[in-house]
This record gives sequence, C-alpha cells and structure tokens, in this order.
Amino acid sequence: MRDAEPQAVRLADYRPPEWLVDQVDLDFALHPTQTRVTARLALRRNPKGTPGAPVILDGDGLTLVRLAIDGAPLAGTSFEASPERLVLRHPPADAFTLEIETLVDPTANTQLMGLYRTSNNYCTQCEPEGFRRITYFPDRPDVLAVYTTRIEAEAAEAPVLLGNGNLVSSGPVLGTSRHFAVWHDPWPKPSYLFALVGGKLARVADSFTTASGRQVELGIYVEEGKETRAGYAMDALKRSMRWDETAFGREYDLDVFNIVAVSDFNMGAMENKGLNVFNDKYVLASPQTATDADYSGIEGVIAHEYFHNWTGNRITCRDWFQLCLKEGLTVFRDQEFSSDQRSRPVKRISDVRMLKAAQFTEDSGPLAHPVRPETYREINNFYTATVYEKGSEVVRMLKTLLGEEGFRKGMDLYFARHDGEAATIEDFLAAFADATGRDLTQFALWYAQSGTPTLEVKGAFDAAAGTYRLDVKQSVPPTPGQSEKKPMVIPLALGLVGPDGADLPLTLGNTPVERGVVEVTEREQSFLFTGLDAKPVPSLNRGFSAPVNVKSDLTPEDRVFLAAHDRDPFNRFDALQGLALGLLAKAARGKVAEGEAALIDAARRLLTDAALDPAFKAQALALPGESEIARELGGDVDPDGVFAARKALRLRLGAALAGPLVETYAALGTDAPFAPDAASAGRRALRNLALDYLAAAGSAEGIARAEAQFAAADNMTDRMAALAVLAQHDRPERGAALDAFYARFESDALVIDKWFTLQAQIPEAGTLERVKALMLHPAFSMGNPNRVRALVGAFAATNPTQFNRADGAGHAFLADVVLSLDARNPQVASRLLSAFKTWRQLEPGRRGHAEAALRRVADTPGLSPDVADIATRSLG
Ligand code: PHE
Ligand code: ZN
Repeated sequence: MRDAEPQAVRLADYRPPEWLVDQVDLDFALHPTQTRVTARLALRRNPKGTPGAPVILDGDGLTLVRLAIDGAPLAGTSFEASPERLVLRHPPADAFTLEIETLVDPTANTQLMGLYRTSNNYCTQCEPEGFRRITYFPDRPDVLAVYTTRIEAEAAEAPVLLGNGNLVSSGPVLGTSRHFAVWHDPWPKPSYLFALVGGKLARVADSFTTASGRQVELGIYVEEGKETRAGYAMDALKRSMRWDETAFGREYDLDVFNIVAVSDFNMGAMENKGLNVFNDKYVLASPQTATDADYSGIEGVIAHEYFHNWTGNRITCRDWFQLCLKEGLTVFRDQEFSSDQRSRPVKRISDVRMLKAAQFTEDSGPLAHPVRPETYREINNFYTATVYEKGSEVVRMLKTLLGEEGFRKGMDLYFARHDGEAATIEDFLAAFADATGRDLTQFALWYAQSGTPTLEVKGAFDAAAGTYRLDVKQSVPPTPGQSEKKPMVIPLALGLVGPDGADLPLTLGNTPVERGVVEVTEREQSFLFTGLDAKPVPSLNRGFSAPVNVKSDLTPEDRVFLAAHDRDPFNRFDALQGLALGLLAKAARGKVAEGEAALIDAARRLLTDAALDPAFKAQALALPGESEIARELGGDVDPDGVFAARKALRLRLGAALAGPLVETYAALGTDAPFAPDAASAGRRALRNLALDYLAAAGSAEGIARAEAQFAAADNMTDRMAALAVLAQHDRPERGAALDAFYARFESDALVIDKWFTLQAQIPEAGTLERVKALMLHPAFSMGNPNRVRALVGAFAATNPTQFNRADGAGHAFLADVVLSLDARNPQVASRLLSAFKTWRQLEPGRRGHAEAALRRVADTPGLSPDVADIATRSLG
C-alpha cells in the first residue's frame, strides 16, 4: 500500500514532461504469477523541459529485473530504483533507448489496476495510473508514444491474445507449447490507453465500412457460452460508428475494433485504443436476463467508449485535472446519440433525474468540487458525477449558447487543431471562441466554480403596457475551498405560455429572443418581454437548459396548467414533479400539505392522455426520489419522515387513480415477443409503474397481480418489476418469489446481482441483518466489484432509511465493509465510502453516527490514499 497521506497535486504546478517517449516496444511473457514484461522506451529529452533534468519514471509495486541502455546492461550504480520510481540522474544522451525488464504477479493483483486476472483470463486496466504497475514509465497523459506489443502465452491457457491497434503477426513459438501475437498501434497515445487481453474467450464477429470505405473488423470477446448475449452490444456499436460520422464527421481509424467483456472490473468500461475493455454488465444481454434499463445502459456505454476514440484518444488530456475534457464531452456525445436513437425528451428527463440524484447531491455536500478540479490527492476519486454529468451539462450549455451551427464549427475546429495532442479546457473553449467570435471568459466559470447555482425568478405582468417583467437573481452557494462566487452565464431557455396553452411571442424590446434562450449573466437582472395581450405563465429552464435550481413564484395552479399544456415536454414533466416535491417536502416535515387534489388531477390527465408517449408518462408519474426530497429539505433530514411522506402520497395516488391505472395495465399487456426498442420499453415502463401503484397499499388484488406477472413474465424487465413490487411487502409471497428467482438464475452472476440489490433496498428494519447474511452467501464475493456494489453499494446509496438507521448500525456497517475491503481494492472501497456524501443533511442524531463512522475510518492506520482522501474530505 502506498503512503496514506500523499501530497496534493495542483493544476497550477503543471510543468511539461522533461522527457518524451516516441516509441514503446513491449514484450509480455504471460504467466499467472510471474509475468515478465520487457519494455523498450525510445526516450528523448523534451526541448521545452529543464536542461539537464534527470529521467524520472513512475512505478507502483514493481519488481525490477534488468535495465539496459542502447543494448548495454546498466550497472547498479548508474540508477536508483524502488518499487515506486526509477531514476537516471545522468542520462547518457539526449535521446536513447532504455530497456526495462520487470516481473509482475497478475494473480496477486486484487486492485484490478495494471495487469490482473479475471475468470482465469489476463487483462489490464491502466487509466488513470495503472500502467506504472506494469513497467516504469512517465505515466502521465501528455506523454504520447507509438506502441508495439508482443504478447506470448501458453497456447492452451490463452488462445486469444489481443492488443491495441492492428494485428501484425501471430503464430506458435516453435519448439514450445507457447504462442504469440504482435499488435501495432500507429496512433500516438498516452500510457493510460494501453491494454492487452489474453485468455480463453469466444469471439462474436461483424464488420463495418466507414464513410470513406475503410473496412473494419469488429470483435466482441466474451466468456465461452455467452456469445448469444453480445448481439445487442454489437448492434449498438455499429449504430455508434455510423452516428459519429453523421453527427460529428468522425470516422474510425484502425482496421480492427475489439471489445472484451470481463466479469471483474472496477468501473463501467474503458476506452483503450482499438481494444475497449468492458464490465460484462455493459455488454451481455438477453431478454431473459437483462432489463430495459440494462439494454439502454449497454447502448449508452458502448457508444460512450466508442466515442472516446476521438474525444479522449485522438485528442487526449494534458493532465488529469482536464478529465472532464474527455469525460464530460463524451457523456454529452453519448447522451445525444441515445436521444437520436430513442425519445429525446424521455432521454433528457432520465438524464436530468440522474444528474439531480447524483450530481446535485454531490455538489451540495462535502465532496463538492469544480468540473475541473484545481487540486487532488487521489485522482481515482475524481471519476465523479460532477466531472461526468455536470461536465456534459456544461458542453450542452455551450451548444445552447452557440446554436447548432456554431457548436459544430467549434467542434470541427477543436478536432482540426488538436488532433494528436494532449489538450486542456482552455484549448477546448478557445476553439469555440475562435470559431464563433464569442467571448467565453465568463462561461469558463462553469469549469472552475463548484456548487449548483440557484436562480430566483419573479414575474410581473403589466396588462396596460402589454409587458411581462422577469426579475432574475442568481447565486452560487459556498462550497469546500470556495466561499465567494462570481456570477455565471446561465442560458435560460423559456417560454411564455398564454391562457390557451400556446406560447405567446417572446420578444425583448423589439427583437424576438433567438432560439427561446435568454442569457443570465449578472447577479440580478431583469428581462422585459413586450407585445403580450394576456398574462402568461412562464415556462422556465425548458429542457433543463442549465443545471441550476430554479426557485420561481409559480403557484400550484400554474404548475397544473404547465403540466397540461407546456409545449416543452421536459417542463410538463418538471411541473408535475415540482408540484409533488413541494407536497412531499412539507409532508416530510409533518406539515399539512395542500394541493394534493390538484396533483392527482394533473396526474390523471397525463395518465389518460392518449397522445402522450407511455415512456414519458412513466417518467412524469414516478414521484421524486427520496434523495431529491432530502435535498429539497436542505438539512435536518429524517429519512424515515421522507420515506413515510413519499409512501403515503404513493398510496393515495394509487388509490385515486386506480381506475385508469387498471385500464393502463390491461391495455399495455401484449403477447408480442420481447423487443428492446424504446417504444416497447416505454410501454413496459408505464405498465410496471401501474403495477407498482396498484400494489402500493398491499391489497390482495395488487399483490396477486404482481405475483401473476412474476410467474408469467417472458422477459427480465417484467419479472424484475414484479419482484420489486413483491419485495416491498413483508408477506410470504416475497420470500417465495425471491427463492424462485434465485433458483431460476442461480448460475448467472449478473442476474443474481439484481437479486442482491433488490433485497438490499427493502426499506425495513430487518434489511441490515439480511445484507450481512447475504455477504456470506456463496454467490457473494468481496473480490468482485459488481457483487460488492450490487449488495453493499445498493444498500448504502439507495436505501436511505436503513443505511441511515437511527441507531447508527447502518453507518457502522458501511465503515466496517470499507475498512475490510480497503487493502484488497481501494477504488471500490472509496466509492462505497462516498455514500456518506449526504451525511451533513441528516438530523443531529444520525449525523452524529455518520460522523463517528467516518472518523473511525479516517483514524484507521494504513488506509489507502483513496479511502483516506474521501474520509478526510467528507469530514472537512
Ligand atoms: N475512462 C472510463 C470511461 O469513462 C472510465 C474508467 C476510469 C474506467 C478509470 C476505468 C478506470 O469511459
Ligand atoms: Zn468516459
């Protein structure tokens, strides 16, 4: 384990690398416990570096066997080597070849960083700092080299050998039982994009012809026997490749594109050049084993990793502070792709739901940080909702401000200028500024200031003058390290909805507002809209044009009106959600909430509107989640009160709408075979929402309906939805259904993860004991990240009443798991620990327990930097 208190790294301290590497030749002799790695680095002094600077290469837990310079073995006196560093104080020349032989043990690698074993196969993960666990290297993203990789292994043990780029040669190693493959990647890349895979894998093959006629061989490698489950991923890949050509003019650039699905992976997937490595959860799907959410997750992640080929790989990051340069932009691209493949409004709604649940929560707690952080102790802890999701929102705002055409021009210039380079956020913004002539200085604050801005909006109609004045106040709350905030540029898309539900003209002075977007740039600002012959209801932040909290003076009647009439589907959804959120927040405080009749009325109207997309209805009718209610309360949160308020409203909605819900359930049933397309998924979503509302009260009829669906379902979406309903009710049917589910899918780890998660989410006092017992279940393993997340992660992140038990047992449990996992896999441990990010919102009793648990973690000697960093910042 590394030093528990590593030095903070600061963006302001960035210096160009002293030495560059033009070429890397790697030779791997794969062995389960003693893999020999020979690296030949063509080193060259950086003309922009410090004259006479030594060669300093990063390592992490390395065993050095041998060093040579230009072929001559190096004496022990001419270098300093430790597991963490290799230093040549007196390099022999300004350019030379350094040959390094190291030994690594992939079997002992439980961190899943560097070269490791998964299901008896070999695989690597190098982002962000895993390459240094393979060989000594300037392991930083601004050192770009051309890689050639020779991989050798027992032919019987690892018949498949994959590397970055194109296959150059392969064959038996004569006179032995071993074989080899040589891969060459012509595109210079940073070390974090290196990958290799070796093992027994089945290949699903296809091909793709790019717009300019390049033939690309596509391969998806899965564990043997799972080939039939890769079809959807392959289809998503081909659609992604085509979409990037039409939407961004980006073609693929190698003869091969391979994806490997592995069952032990810390994250979702990884964009290694020409050789994406995936958590198998984001590749494998069949109607029997995957839900609609799984299918859309696969589509999104396949697209995301593919799109990295241009945004991340061809143009990479200068340093890890620029992580959002590739991640925020690539999330934006995958969201746009999914919007084009599915329903744009429904995609937007689900993305914003996620953004609010994950990022707004992060941004309002102790782990808040800017989209581009300025300092970090452990970069692994910055793969966050803020870097990814808010990073995407920032790109989306850029597009909103510049318009479709301006945005595309900026992107084209960015690609043209920086192809083959390691770039910064400044480079990115400069491309848009130069392409459109717009000053983006103030806009850049979105990358630098953390915290979710609040927009306070008040409207005043002047009938005599025919004007409507909108007074807007913006503020950004203080966040760790940032007490004072400057005003931001907030693109506020809006409409003024007239009494008949149609938009009134949107005119400032005499000029129509372009694209319906006004720009809020000052702390306080007024907009005077003219030419109005009736009092409008303002529809604010349409399409969620800016990631802000809008506090408006809309009345419940206004919201009911917008829910029924707004031509912006996002705001129809949001109007209903806002109504519900207001009621729920009051009820959670034990106050009587008025306006429920209006909500029920609006919900009924939506539910019975035949013109609306079922997927949209399902989103609009799902109540705000517990985390959103807690955030709305702001502090002194009693999670039991939140849960009770939400449950009570769900019950009353279910009862009040029973008639149309039963009809909806019946009308959406189908005998057609399962298809994963968005329209079919939307019908299932609405039908399953009806199932849930109808069973909310636990009536015999409601439970029987769920039981029947559970038994008859021909697909995982419907089966899981029914099981989730049954799981909420402490009745014998629950145990029976859980047992039946387990028996049916016992051999399928990804499905058993769903079974773990569902049980971890039961909002009952017995759940903690159940989770502890399940940790001893033979299907559970602390070594597999998916299992840990499915059980412990789901408990901590999605079961607020039980994780935050009043007696503190939930908090203590998480601390115990984090501490026992830390030595094995610090990355997964620190992610689990970040479930404490909302602890300060809690009422004093629970807050005390959370603080004690965090302190106990922080005070434990020998912590990984990952866990130490999260514990310290959470307490800070
Ligand atoms: N770069 C990956 C992605 O977002 C995420 C990742 C980070 C994977 C670190 C592994 C390790 O696509
Ligand atoms: Zn990514």
